[in-house]
Amino acid sequence: LVVDASDLSGRPIPDTLFGIFFEEINHAGAGGLWAELVNNRGFEAGGTQVPSNIAPWTIVGHESAIFLQTELSSCFERNKVALKMDVVCENCPSGGVGVSNPGFWGMNIVQWKKYKVVFFVTSTGSLDITVSFRKNEDGGILASRNIKASASEVSNWKRMETILVADASCSNSSLYLTTTKKGVIWLDQVSAMPVDTYKGHGFRSDLVNMLLELKPAFLRFPGGCFIEGETLRNAFRWKDSVGPWEERPGHFGDVWSYWTDDAFGYFEGLQLAEDIGARPLWVFNNGISHTDEIDTRVITPFVQEALEGIEFARGAATSKWGSLRASMGHPEPFDLKYVAIGNEDCWKKNYRGSYLAFYYAIRHVYPDIQIISNCDASSKPLDHPADIYDYHTYPLDSQIMFNNARVFDKTPRNGPKAFVSEYALIGNKQAKFGTLLGAVSEAGFLIGLERNSDHVIMASYAPLFVNAYDRKWNPDAIVFNSDQVYGTPSYWVQLMFRESNGATLLRSQLQTPDPNFVAASAILWKNPQDKKTYLKIKVANVGNKQVNLKISLNGFESSNTTKPAKTVLTSADALDENSFANPKKIVPKRNPLQSYSNEIYEILPPVSLTVFDLLKN
Ligand code: AHR
Repeated sequence: LVVDASDLSGRPIPDTLFGIFFEEINHAGAGGLWAELVNNRGFEAGGTQVPSNIAPWTIVGHESAIFLQTELSSCFERNKVALKMDVVCENCPSGGVGVSNPGFWGMNIVQWKKYKVVFFVTSTGSLDITVSFRKNEDGGILASRNIKASASEVSNWKRMETILVADASCSNSSLYLTTTKKGVIWLDQVSAMPVDTYKGHGFRSDLVNMLLELKPAFLRFPGGCFIEGETLRNAFRWKDSVGPWEERPGHFGDVWSYWTDDAFGYFEGLQLAEDIGARPLWVFNNGISHTDEIDTRVITPFVQEALEGIEFARGAATSKWGSLRASMGHPEPFDLKYVAIGNEDCWKKNYRGSYLAFYYAIRHVYPDIQIISNCDASSKPLDHPADIYDYHTYPLDSQIMFNNARVFDKTPRNGPKAFVSEYALIGNKQAKFGTLLGAVSEAGFLIGLERNSDHVIMASYAPLFVNAYDRKWNPDAIVFNSDQVYGTPSYWVQLMFRESNGATLLRSQLQTPDPNFVAASAILWKNPQDKKTYLKIKVANVGNKQVNLKISLNGFESSNTTKPAKTVLTSADALDENSFANPKKIVPKRNPLQSYSNEIYEILPPVSLTVFDLLKN
């Protein structure tokens, strides 16, 4: 590998190149990044009719002691379903009767941590209710509070709030609401949140930390197929996901088949982007789902909805929708500069016609917004205006993934820029739940994107998160359950590319008999911490043989003040994976590099990504 390492040989890589794509899939948000512990908070999972589906709530006590029903009697207009508990026992068991909720496959309750429990209640008489966290295994109590109210206080719906402090830990617990008093109690919108969430904004800190490590340039959200819906009636519609959480109707995401309370909604996506220092990129529903479409002739209400969504994000705090954002605690506009019109819809009957309606309306009101089309322009020009086009790739074969590095080599540079908003090797044979092989083949692809970054200005892996109890899509970058989290090898590859945003891509030439197995790039990047410039060379070897590598550095004066280093991502077997039992089996390992002059001789292990870090004078 010959690297022309003088600053002058390079060209800038866009500072937007590597970001992340958050989709509500695999319980990534509900039961994941959003720290809410209660699943089906409003008893609405069966929809707007009764009887509804209250699962995973279950009855505490015998059915002869307590009778449960759902009724359309809630105080909330957009989610009318409430739970009616008819407590009929004269001498109720001392442990009480009522309901319990296991959250998303068990709540993680941590000793000395505080949890805020909020619920809405009304009752036929005075209220005497106990709120507790108990272990699923043996019912052991982790935290408990008794709440009392007079009959007049709860004759109408009343909001109750209490803080529980756990005096023991258990990662598989449930929330209980129980009573020993005969009477009728109605419950709605029951929430339990840890008090300390990331920046107090409701996000699970351990999962946010994983994102921060990637230094993502942008956050695409909230889908994906999630924004389309199998049917339009189940598509994600931003207006239903903003405002006070207890008033949001929630919806059944029918593509990934689960109910979400939409507490991680449009506002939260914008907030998350801001919190992690990433540019928000909003994908909105364009009147098209997987199975039905709005005719372009009547698309105007959807265009209006999109414009209002942008106003919600960017409008003044005095504007109609900006004021709603302000009321949610964010008077300053969010920095929304990118919107995507739909997801994977280019081939649909009404896409182009409706796209133009969205495009011209947005361009007129927000000329600075970058508009992203679903249509692929990598091999033929678009037939409609766009700033950026969306490109997705999910090969089943690692060699295809690796060679996709060349997809943009020949794309004419006079059209819209490319956004590779979804890429990953998939398939049970090679990618499984996230193999080393998959990750290294993706590294080869990313090296190709760096090389073509005069055209490809953004890229993100998909999907980002998976709750291990709901693997709707494999593989994923970050795996979690109620209390654990780890990165798959694909996550670590992304981390090894994080310095590329805004760096200088150097001219380099790889001479190899195996161009299908080895790929390399070299960048100069400035470390904002120490303000020094570093040379970073990445070499991916997707072949199953080791490679003897010689690197020649032209025009590079190294500094000896920081020891050069080599970081390698590899493992004994190409199909190795990380797991909860062995979360660090495959992680980048950094070692000092033996002394070098302007030539480096190293051995690349089979199926590996190696990064050489050198400090520049
Ligand atoms: O990333 C998973 C899914 O793949 C996305 O929802 C969709 O856009 C693509 O088909």
